[in-house]
Amino acid sequence: MFKPETYTHRRNALRKEVKNGIILFPGNTEAAFNYPANTYHFRQDSSFSYFFGINQPDLAGIIDLDNGKDILFGNDVDMDDIIWMGPQPSMADRGKLAGIASTLPLGEFAGYVREGLAKGRKVHFLPPYRGETKIWLSEMLGIPVTELKASASAELIKGVVKLRCIKSEEEIREIEKMVNVAYKMHTTAMKMAHPGVVEQEIAGTIEGIALANAGPVSFPVILSMDGQTLHNHNHGNTLVEGRMLVVDSGCESEETLYASDITRTVPVGGKFSARQKEIYEIVLKANMEAIKAIKPGIPYREIHLLAAKVIAQGLKDAGLMKGDLDEAVKQGAHAMFFPHGLGHMLGMDVHDLENVGENYVGYDEETKRSDQFGTAFLRLGRRLQPGFVLTVEPGIYFIPALIDQWQAEGKFTEFINYEKAETYKDFGGIRIEDDVLVTESGYRVLGKPIPKTVAEVEAMMAK
Ligand code: GLY
Ligand code: MN
Ligand code: MN
Repeated sequence: MFKPETYTHRRNALRKEVKNGIILFPGNTEAAFNYPANTYHFRQDSSFSYFFGINQPDLAGIIDLDNGKDILFGNDVDMDDIIWMGPQPSMADRGKLAGIASTLPLGEFAGYVREGLAKGRKVHFLPPYRGETKIWLSEMLGIPVTELKASASAELIKGVVKLRCIKSEEEIREIEKMVNVAYKMHTTAMKMAHPGVVEQEIAGTIEGIALANAGPVSFPVILSMDGQTLHNHNHGNTLVEGRMLVVDSGCESEETLYASDITRTVPVGGKFSARQKEIYEIVLKANMEAIKAIKPGIPYREIHLLAAKVIAQGLKDAGLMKGDLDEAVKQGAHAMFFPHGLGHMLGMDVHDLENVGENYVGYDEETKRSDQFGTAFLRLGRRLQPGFVLTVEPGIYFIPALIDQWQAEGKFTEFINYEKAETYKDFGGIRIEDDVLVTESGYRVLGKPIPKTVAEVEAMMAK
């Protein structure tokens, strides 16, 4: 945990964003895996953790805007708990760790909320995403589960987004520590990526590095020679020479929950072929040019489109695209090869705050989400501010089913060389992803640099 003042400061900052009423932060409960007592690894709700710091199940927090009180709800452990889990801090001590003087039993949470409702006070909550929390809130508030999302407080969502999107020095240090663990994960994967190795061996090894050095992976490891499938969680292939291996993985701090999210793509066996190198250099250029363009005030969608242009130009040079590239990118022809967004906010969630609604996080009054295939999937489009931490993750993919569909539809025949694309259907995909801080004057790529030029990757793989 950070110091108690950090949490007090955050709660006070939220008081300035939401005018009156009661703000509810239900913490996460244990989630059953295959029977109630066998649970998944416990993961606290990120916003609860941001404002109340304590990563234990069965807690709830209230920020009462009308009487100025912050209350932590939870139960002191009994002898049964001590026998199974060992000694635990009292609720009063837990409260102190988060700068909170008032603690109450968890059973009083619903009563406090219902009393507020009966007095006609406004009750603010974030859209719940877990079944257990939905049922808990639904019963407490008398709102059907299906209507909870629409009943969530836009005022609270906007306030939480405003605070959590600007990372403090201590938050940046946490993210950077996680990128440095990702360095170990990715360089280990590079060294293991040789013919005959099964993907699962590498996936399991790097997940172990996360657990041994920081905490759980921040999302299920994406690791595959079939990198054309964007989020490929199948790890059954045996590596063969001539293919490339996409590894998209990161970890999160067990204690503070801050995450990293890094992608590297390497040639199985350690040497890029001429064909692999040609496509790789395009993605690398898009990654580096996009990073260089990062500064406060620029809409991230502009940088996404800049990366799309670098990709289109590279693909034209490689004979895969043709024609007027400004027009091609404007119309979205590049998206057959780059069918996702350039990146997203990163913080306590790997797609930070996605649970409150992506448009609140990545878009605003000025920048509305595009509805064009490809650019529509950009999670962050709005103007950048100092303190944002985001990912830069361009890619080029040869997705046989998409190529076939677009070709059959005669789509963008003036911009795409389908005859050549046909010969790349066995290629897979390439993505290169870094985690970047927006500074007052520009940007800083977080963490120890992870090999990404052709020479750096080949040198690491030779070790
Ligand atoms: N790791 C998922 C992503 O890069 O967005
Ligand atoms: Mn990723
Ligand atoms: Mn990402």
